[in-house]
Amino acid sequence: MQLILSEEVIRARLRALGGQISGDYRGKTPVVIGILKGAFIFVADLVRQLSVEVEVDFIRVASYGDATSSSGRCTISKPAEIPLAGRDVLLVEDIVDTGNTLDFLRETLAAAGAASVRTCVFIDKAERRCRQVAIDYAAFTVEGGFLVGYGLDRAERQRHLPAVYALAGEEAE
Ligand code: PRP
Repeated sequence: MQLILSEEVIRARLRALGGQISGDYRGKTPVVIGILKGAFIFVADLVRQLSVEVEVDFIRVASYGDATSSSGRCTISKPAEIPLAGRDVLLVEDIVDTGNTLDFLRETLAAAGAASVRTCVFIDKAERRCRQVAIDYAAFTVEGGFLVGYGLDRAERQRHLPAVYALAGEEAE
């Protein structure tokens, strides 16, 4: 495993990102929506860096078909519990890969009547991007690789690691 983002680097970046987001939402009370499961750690750390009031909720998305293809289809398997019509929504993702999940959620929540929908991702990973979804806030941009830790898993393991690592060839299989 190769260290990609250390705990110290993550902490410093989230402090700055939290300040930026708080400035942009000054006077508003956005609904922060984490996308399960991977975003649970990022949401927990990010909201503690915000100085505006927020409400927090979670959505779970199921993806169908070949995740590597641009035709990947999504459905919401656990909707938000807070009514989102008229609300400022900040979608929080651990990683954007093909872009299918975030593109689908952005469209779906806008269609559900949210006043605004912005996206905040921990890692913007562009190597397999097939939908040019708008990312309003990205903590980090990483070129590629099989990443684990800080919510990111390999077959459900390694989400608990406090830093982000890239798996080497045989580890990623
Ligand atoms: C991962 C990640 C994003 C999505 C990104 O979730 O957490 O939600 O894939 O990929 P995309 O940009 O290609 O749509 P995953 O389906 O692995 O579920 P998990 O969060 O429960 O690990």
